[in-house]
Amino acid sequence: MIDSQKIRADFPILNQTVNGKPLVYFDNAATSQKPQVVIDAEANYYKEINANIHRGVHTLSQLATDAYEASRYKIQQHINAKFSHEVLFTSGTTHGINLVANGFGSFLKPGDEVMVSALEHHSNIVPWQMLCEKTGAKLVVIPMNENGELILSEFERLLSEKTKMVTVNHISNALGTINPIQWMIEKAHEVGAAVLIDGAQAVPHLKPDVQDLDCDFYVFSGHKICGPTGTGILYGKEAWLNKLPPYQGGGEMIATVSFEKTTYAELPHKFEAGTPNIAGGIVLGTAIDYLNEIGFDNIAAYEHELLEYGTKKLLEIEGLKIYGTASQKTSVISFNLDGIHPYDVGTIIDKLGIAVRTGHHCAQPIMDFYQIPGTLRASFAFYNTKEEIDALVEAVKKAQMMLS
Ligand code: ALA
Repeated sequence: MIDSQKIRADFPILNQTVNGKPLVYFDNAATSQKPQVVIDAEANYYKEINANIHRGVHTLSQLATDAYEASRYKIQQHINAKFSHEVLFTSGTTHGINLVANGFGSFLKPGDEVMVSALEHHSNIVPWQMLCEKTGAKLVVIPMNENGELILSEFERLLSEKTKMVTVNHISNALGTINPIQWMIEKAHEVGAAVLIDGAQAVPHLKPDVQDLDCDFYVFSGHKICGPTGTGILYGKEAWLNKLPPYQGGGEMIATVSFEKTTYAELPHKFEAGTPNIAGGIVLGTAIDYLNEIGFDNIAAYEHELLEYGTKKLLEIEGLKIYGTASQKTSVISFNLDGIHPYDVGTIIDKLGIAVRTGHHCAQPIMDFYQIPGTLRASFAFYNTKEEIDALVEAVKKAQMMLS
């Protein structure tokens, strides 16, 4: 059970007014807010143990290294990876995808296919497009239907022995659709393709089990799960990470360096060149502890209640259309008012203290599919309330009156 008032007290930022109105923060799919325990952990790192990691024999360096590696271990447990060296720290989902896409070029030849879906964020399209341009591979797209679901019969039809990589999001950022990734992974493996799952929008709502999913790669960002910006995780199966070439060269990722030849470090260090976001990596572990204390079952159940309530209330507004009506979706509602540009509505409701995202949500192909310039997107987290949804509905009605 979620006690939203108790939980809200953990988030200092929520207790403020914006433009003279109480803040209603419904832009959680863009980034989550941070609880005090996370803010304190970041400050404490710098107050108490700041030092570079894996480099010094001195005590502070060892303390920082231990804390960083303890966080890696915590994340391994959280996603049920087999080994902690399969968990790589990155700066975020985009970094993780680029790392894999860059190295995957070694396994592609002209005529091979990389499959993405129509529901992808630009960060899971562009790196693969760049890779295809470089290698002569072909980008193949799994189409979507009007409800914002992938057309699975088309997915099956498009798969062939030419498919070398299937890269798809667990949950769509723009529509909230939950994709049937376990089944998709199984199908892709049947033709010998590798599978990368963009879990950026999934990890705030559920706990992925990478061994059960059997995905080859799973990527996500820390800032969407109450952690700091500039943090992220790339999970990769050991065999794949050993095969992939390093992404960046530099300190920490080497075993030996001479001007004749460099040999690379073992996992995970082979992919972690340079001084990382040490504080961020450690504090990401704190954020994951915080969420696990609340419990992902509780989070999912409460957010589902918010989704149902918000959907019902918003649909009571005449002329309001929701985009993304998949039977399986998370607490994201993308909508527009008939004849009114989403940006105008977003600007007015901001004056009323309400933060939603407006625009194409870095998913232009989805907007093209619906032939719209963008949407307003309200994305709910476990610290939101039904009263806040009521405030959103009133604000949207007001905007509609002013703009009609
Ligand atoms: N990917 C983030 C979003 O959907 C930024 O808003």
